[in-house]
Amino acid sequence: MVRPATFLFAAGQETVTKLLSSAVQVLGDRPELQDRLRADRNLIGPFTEEALRLQSPTKVDFRLARKTTTLGGVHIPAGTVLMLCLGAANRDLRKFDNPDEFQVDRKNVREQIAFGRGIHTCARAPLARVQGQITINRLLDRTRDMVISEAKHGSPGDRQYRYESTFLLRGLTELHIEFTAAD
Ligand code: HEM
Repeated sequence: MVRPATFLFAAGQETVTKLLSSAVQVLGDRPELQDRLRADRNLIGPFTEEALRLQSPTKVDFRLARKTTTLGGVHIPAGTVLMLCLGAANRDLRKFDNPDEFQVDRKNVREQIAFGRGIHTCARAPLARVQGQITINRLLDRTRDMVISEAKHGSPGDRQYRYESTFLLRGLTELHIEFTAAD
């Protein structure tokens, strides 16, 4: 009971927290995109996918090679533990045009692999997506604008952000925003 509960705490809470903070970071840094989302809430779905792609909360995943094989020209003996870099794959130039750019209109935005792939793909990816979409929707409802705090993160074009120092997850250590509450 304890082990699955511990796993779910990290798998379910840390990851979604990181998704939400990176989504708010993008909104705070891109007022024109924020305006588009406020005007057309249908964009929140693709916006969430693009946030997952660009800032994949789970940076790496692992697999055990049960058979000797060759993958992408690399010989992999049976018994090898492979570290798969999901965050890097999500920025693969062969898959995504201008991969370092946040493009909410990206055609293949749903092909990102922030939730892994295959029989162990994230068990609650649909829940995480809904959590992300509902939270962003509510934040937009309850604010008139959201901007990144210049006092804490510097001016646009010279932002300072710090990320947790772990190779497993990608997430901001802190994010400061300023907002005007909706009436
Ligand atoms: C943005 C949020 C999330 C991200 C980025 C994420 C990412 C991942 C990744 C990369 C894996 C490994 C997939 C693989 O090996 O192919 C995974 C597995 C898993 N995730 Fe998530 N996850 C998220 C949210 C959640 C939530 C909310 C829950 C549960 C409440 C959850 C539960 C699980 C479980 C149980 C597994 C193990 C599945 C298995 O081994 O069969 N995840 N997740």
